[in-house]
Amino acid sequence: MKEILSPKSVMEKMVDKLQKLYLNHDQKAEGIIQFHLKHNSESIDCFIQSDFENLILKEGVAENPTVTVKSSFYNWLDLAGGKLNPVFGVMTGKLKFRGDTSFFNILPQKSLNGDFFVPSDPVTKFEKNPIKHWKKPRKVIVLSASPRGEKGYTDFYLKPFIEGMKKETEVELIHLNQYKINSCTGCFSCWMNVPGQCIYENKDDFHILAEKMFEADVTVYAFPIYADGMPGILKNYFDRSVSRAYPYMIEGMKRVRHPRRYINENHSMLIFSICGFFEMINFEPVRAYFKALAHNRHTPIVGEIYRTTAVGLYSNPFAFKKLNNILSALENAGEEIIEHGKIKQKTQKIINLKFGNRKSDLVRINEWWNEKKGSKDTNY
Ligand SMILES: Cc1cc2nc3c(=O)[nH]c(=O)nc-3n(C[C@H](O)[C@H](O)[C@H](O)COP(=O)(O)O)c2cc1C
Repeated sequence: MKEILSPKSVMEKMVDKLQKLYLNHDQKAEGIIQFHLKHNSESIDCFIQSDFENLILKEGVAENPTVTVKSSFYNWLDLAGGKLNPVFGVMTGKLKFRGDTSFFNILPQKSLNGDFFVPSDPVTKFEKNPIKHWKKPRKVIVLSASPRGEKGYTDFYLKPFIEGMKKETEVELIHLNQYKINSCTGCFSCWMNVPGQCIYENKDDFHILAEKMFEADVTVYAFPIYADGMPGILKNYFDRSVSRAYPYMIEGMKRVRHPRRYINENHSMLIFSICGFFEMINFEPVRAYFKALAHNRHTPIVGEIYRTTAVGLYSNPFAFKKLNNILSALENAGEEIIEHGKIKQKTQKIINLKFGNRKSDLVRINEWWNEKKGSKDTNY
């Protein structure tokens, strides 16, 4: 387990960083900055000795320091980090100096060379207003992420939606459960050791899948709600996608984010989710997740399809008419999204039709579970 750094090791790190900048610093000089710092009940006496090549941190009290600082450890950190104005620090008694304070100029203040590489990936017009700038997508990929694959209810509800989209464009359905995707280990090798390359490249299917997904202008993420979120196989896929972003940080539409390594300007996404419970509120956690994901992936959400009581609706013979209406609306939604970049309100209303009476259904459902106890038939 990582332990909190001691003031001594913080000072060592700081001087280490300063030393790197000192090599090109134009105000090198010989001398000593002496520190008398207090932290909790500890007194820290140390000094930085400088010559024309190095800054060296030493413990103890030096003879004839060029300048001396007396303060709490935190106030010194604030001063060094530019958060505490030295004049204000002296006036408020937070800092005490003795000697030649101009000698602090030997400490480089910031990176000397502002000319470093940051990939550009600015906010696009499409991202700001995908409906206004909508172009009919060349290809849609539907990533069906039910761990039950083709056997799941996710695919059942997806079918008419895909049929609708197919009237307008090319659609490819991919089942995530057929791909082997290891979970991210958080090693950051893809950002440090071999930029852009995950340690599992050629060892699992992530890379193949990510390349495939990049072909599409629209990605439909389809999945059932599992434990108030998305199934782990889909979350694994998103975690691994970190290798496809740069580590740098840039201004985004709403907050800071990473620039993409691979850019498709017109890429958008659609969320398609089903759940077992009755209330739309069950989708709120994934809605919040995808909103954040859309921002950080520079990819707007152009549609959200959520269907509650997915299992109950399918298995209740009295709901046959309602189910058929919903399936037809899903087909219309598929056509509408490709043509206009949005689903009509009327269509959305039918997809979301309330089904079931919580009070009476709970009795019926609980009876069903009682009957199923110990059943070997798991193809529900
Ligand atoms: C492990 C697991 C967790 C689930 N958690 C929830 C949940 O939190 N909320 C909910 O409404 N339904 C939940 N469900 C029900 C599924 O969303 C529902 O059965 C869905 O139709 C499954 O889709 P599939 O057949 O494509 O796998 C859960 C199902 C499983 C297997």
